[in-house]
Amino acid sequence: MLPKNPVFVALDTVDLNQAIAWADAVRPSVGGVKLGLEFFKSNGPDGVRRVVDLGLPVFLDLKFHDIPNTVAGAVRAVTGLGAAIVNVHAGGGPAMLKAAAAAAAEYGSDRPLVIAVTVLTSLDDGDLAAVGQTGPAASQVERLARLTQSCGLDGVVCSPAEIATLRAACGDGFRLIVPGIRPAWASRGDQKRIMTPRQARDLGADILVIGRPITGSDDPAAAAARIVEELDISS
Ligand code: C5P
Repeated sequence: MLPKNPVFVALDTVDLNQAIAWADAVRPSVGGVKLGLEFFKSNGPDGVRRVVDLGLPVFLDLKFHDIPNTVAGAVRAVTGLGAAIVNVHAGGGPAMLKAAAAAAAEYGSDRPLVIAVTVLTSLDDGDLAAVGQTGPAASQVERLARLTQSCGLDGVVCSPAEIATLRAACGDGFRLIVPGIRPAWASRGDQKRIMTPRQARDLGADILVIGRPITGSDDPAAAAARIVEELDISS
C-alpha cells in the first residue's frame, strides 16, 4: 500500500503553479508529496485534484479534529479527491478515531492510509499542563500512539526522536511518518531535533517528510535525487 520509496516532499506553498512545478521536478525520484493546510485553504479540492492528477501518491495533511460524524464525512470527502494518506488528531478520542478508520475502509483496497497526529512537536510539557494534560509529552505520545493502533488506524506522525520508542511499542506493521528530516548537507532551518534520512529510515521510519531541503534548493530535482540516492533504496 505504501510506495517502496519513503520520501514524501512537503509542498508547503499557497501557489498551485509552484506546487505543480515542484511535484513535476521531483516526480522521477520520490515516493510521494504532502499537501498541508496552507495549500488546501488557498487552492481547495480542485488544487488537490490537480496535484493528484500528476500521478504521485498524495499525503493530505489536514489533521482533522471534530466530532466522529464530521470527521468521517471529511475523510470520505478527501478520499474522493484521491488522497493516498489522510490524518486526524489522536486527541479526538477513540470514537472519532474509529469513525475515521471506518470511513476510509468504505473504499476497500483503494482506501487511504489513516494516520494520527499524537502531540504536536510545537508543544512541550508546560503547554500540555496548560491544557490540562499530564505530561511528560513523551508518555502522552506513546499513550496516543497505542490508542491510535487499538482503534484500527494505520500509524502516526512522529518526530525522529520518537521512532525507536513507537516502533517498539506498536510493532512493525504500524506506520511511522516522520518530518524533521535533514540531509547532512542541508540547513536545519527551524527544525530542532533532526535526523538524516538514512538515520530515520534505519530506525524504522516508513515515510520521510522532507520539505525545504528540496523545495528551498536551487535545483529541487537534484536535491531529491541526491536524498534518494543516499537512502540506497534498492538495498
Ligand atoms: O521544510 P521541512 O522539511 O521542515 O518540512 C517539514 C514538513 O513537515 C512541513 O510541512 C511541516 O509542517 C511538517 N511537520 C513538521 N513537524 C511536525 C509535523 C509536521 O515539520 N511535527
